[in-house]
Amino acid sequence: MKRGAGILVAAIVAIPVAIGIAVITIKTLSERKANRIVTINVSPVAYASGEAVITRGGYLFRSRGCSECHGVDGGGKVVIDDPNGLHVESPNITSGSGSAVNGYAEVDWVRAIRHGVDRAGHPLLIMPSEDYNRLTDEDLAALVAYVRALPPIADKPASVRFPLIVQALYAFGVVRDAAEKIDHALPPSQPVPAGVTAEHGAYVANMCIGCHRRDLTGGTIAGAPPSWPPAADLTPRSGSAMARYDTGEKFVAMMRTGRRPDGSAVSTVMPFPSLAAMDETDLLALHAYLRSLPAPRANP
Ligand code: HEC
Ligand code: HEC
Repeated sequence: MKRGAGILVAAIVAIPVAIGIAVITIKTLSERKANRIVTINVSPVAYASGEAVITRGGYLFRSRGCSECHGVDGGGKVVIDDPNGLHVESPNITSGSGSAVNGYAEVDWVRAIRHGVDRAGHPLLIMPSEDYNRLTDEDLAALVAYVRALPPIADKPASVRFPLIVQALYAFGVVRDAAEKIDHALPPSQPVPAGVTAEHGAYVANMCIGCHRRDLTGGTIAGAPPSWPPAADLTPRSGSAMARYDTGEKFVAMMRTGRRPDGSAVSTVMPFPSLAAMDETDLLALHAYLRSLPAPRANP
């Protein structure tokens, strides 16, 4: 009896201690990974200017997700504040004081946007640079020209906080940052003419891979709040969401309204404000590309 009580007391002491050690280990490992230095060779892209360049940059800023996360004015905003503890407040990327891009040179823009690495060499944690790695030099220069021309906004705080479970998944490699997913050795894409072609659609579809995965077969979005549905399978295999979009018109309507052909709403995890800003050429090209994808395997 006495011995049994001793074991009980030992367990009451030991279990919280073990949990404490596990929590500290997880926090230490995930902080170490977030603070690691990513060493990569980055080629600068020369600053560009001119009305056509800024217009193209503004279009990309609104239609490729930047404005949805950094705000239309680039001043930063709360992007996610989930009850599970995931909190994302994006940084100010205008030229105002206290901005994340203060002191940025040509090469720093490329390192952040194309490689997911900040000026000090640390990985960006939320910014989906894997979606932007394939931007051509021309498009990257246009985006940078537009952002640099935004009116300055001063002093806005930014912060990223992960719940413990996401820190654990990050520490153990289940959740990967963009710098881990990107093949940093790939040369920049060569421009393809804009048009309703699968080739141009493949270029636009680069902004879908952060959520729908590189092969666009979708699935659970690692590290996302539990309330987020899995990203849809975008390949044309039977039973995939694309079966609903046999015509370009149906696809364009869904991307612009957030509603399927039967009127039901697609989850707003899909970045509809950005997708609705896409022009018809980009949307129809996306449709042509998705319809041309190889179906990875037949449904059972
Ligand atoms: C899903 C939200 C999201 C999208 C989309 C997004 N960003 Fe970011 N961005 C962030 C967050 C959050 C940070 C802060 C670093 C991090 O990821 O933890 C950041 C950081 C940055 C930085 C500063 C990096 C540094 O040195 O600290 C730049 C520049 C930037 N983003 C530009 C862009 C541009 C341009 C686009 C569009 C092509 C874009 N972002 C799209 C969320 C986003
Ligand atoms: C921030 C993550 C995210 C990004 C970026 C994203 N999607 Fe999605 N998408 C989702 C999620 C999550 C769903 C599942 C929605 C649901 O089940 O209601 C989805 C569903 C879909 C569907 C199925 C719609 C239906 O009928 O149910 C299509 C088609 C689609 N996405 C296309 C795209 C394309 C094309 C892009 C890039 C241009 C893209 N998505 C970018 C998260 C994303």
